[in-house]
Amino acid sequence: MATIRQVAMRANVSVATVSRVINNKGYVDANTRKIVLKAIEELNYVPNSVAQVLAGKKMKVIALIVPDISNPFFAELAKAIEEQARQKGYTLFLCNSSEEEQKEFGYIEVLKSKSIDGIIFATHHLNEAMLDHCRDLPVVLMDRAWIKQSLNKDTFVISARNQRGVQLAIRHLLEMGCRKIAHIYGPQQVITARERRLSYQKEVERFSWYSDSLMAPGYFQIEGGRKAIQALLKKHPDIDGVFVGNDTMAIGALKGLHQMKIEVPHQVAICGFDGIQMTRMMEPELTTIAQPIEAMGKKACQILIDLIEGNKKPKQHIEFDVQLIVRGSTKRR
Ligand code: RIB
Repeated sequence: MATIRQVAMRANVSVATVSRVINNKGYVDANTRKIVLKAIEELNYVPNSVAQVLAGKKMKVIALIVPDISNPFFAELAKAIEEQARQKGYTLFLCNSSEEEQKEFGYIEVLKSKSIDGIIFATHHLNEAMLDHCRDLPVVLMDRAWIKQSLNKDTFVISARNQRGVQLAIRHLLEMGCRKIAHIYGPQQVITARERRLSYQKEVERFSWYSDSLMAPGYFQIEGGRKAIQALLKKHPDIDGVFVGNDTMAIGALKGLHQMKIEVPHQVAICGFDGIQMTRMMEPELTTIAQPIEAMGKKACQILIDLIEGNKKPKQHIEFDVQLIVRGSTKRR
């Protein structure tokens, strides 16, 4: 691999001149710049990224930390962010914390040691200690990476209107004729799951049929959704509608209903939340509350790159609207 010294010799200039051309810093006349760039091309020289960082140049590398890459929501989010980063000439490092706080903290250490330019957090363990650790680094918080409101004023937050989504889901199930609606909820230490459960309760607690026993945990997992629907129907055989806190649990619940030979939507109508592509592959296709995953990912990436490149903007919490996508798992008429 060619070195900066070989480039200097080829172009008959000093190493310092080559360094100024590479890092676009300091004066180099046009003709000399042209000669140096020609020598770089002929020798196929690739600047050493550590040297570039030491020269104060940005690596143009950002990181996204997600809690569960096996969940299609995060895979689709990572894809959107990677596409936006590439368009802006940045590389994306994808880190999966497996919902482990220590792993998340460890990633921050490693990323900082690699002179990462900025981090997007989509995990729920983020706290003041971690943010302090990132103090000198541009960060954007997404989705469940909310932290105490007092801290959010210092950071950009991107999320979806969870409460609005629950209202749309419950209203739709009622319009489809449902008269007893259950809820399968995600892990309550995750703000998005907690918000959706609380919103479900707010929407249905006025009905005489409501009881807390109409809610069951599904842990944001497919198997959790399957087990939850079976437990709910054992307790309340007259349930005729289910709002599920995310699509992976809804897919599991569909499987559970099929195993119990319960017809969807005629006996039980079911609505999920996220809008992942896989909802279209189900039979019947899953009605869901779609989050604008791609738009949120691209926005988060653009804000982070603006912060990295010094385009200062006032910190804000950007909430994206969600959309009810009606399909066969609820459409009774
Ligand atoms: O499906 C994963 C869930 O975790 C999504 O609803 C998303 O909002 C995240 O919080």
